[in-house]
Amino acid sequence: MSDQNSKQILWREEFSIGVPSIDDQHKRLLALLNQLNSFDHDQAIGDPQASPLMEMLENLNEYAAHHFLNEEALMREHLAPDEKTVNHIVAHRSYWTIILTLKNRLLKGDAKVNRDLVEYLNGWWINHILMTDQEMGRELSRRGVE
Ligand SMILES: [Fe+2]
Repeated sequence: MSDQNSKQILWREEFSIGVPSIDDQHKRLLALLNQLNSFDHDQAIGDPQASPLMEMLENLNEYAAHHFLNEEALMREHLAPDEKTVNHIVAHRSYWTIILTLKNRLLKGDAKVNRDLVEYLNGWWINHILMTDQEMGRELSRRGVE
């Protein structure tokens, strides 16, 4: 049974932050997010720890951790440690707090969390790329970072 509500996030030009290496990472993140988006939420979960949803989430998180470190290294190397930079790093940290909360709900067998989790992740990433990363991208581009 396929999920009728499955939606895919397609890459669009407005996602580009003007730093090709980061854009490539964002494309990969959206592809991992789209695996979660194609998950059939109506299927029986069984053991949440062994569910495909959990595996997709772990794959996304593994790459997200690598990606955050990359962005933070670029910021440390090229940008001033001002309020914007600090807030950006705090935003990355707060992502993990939310993930942990959602994962705990998932492990407790909260049926509604599947949709909440995927909706939250879509919203977080789109918003983060369009707002926070765009701002960082402008600063990095100005300094010739690719
Ligand atoms: Fe970021």
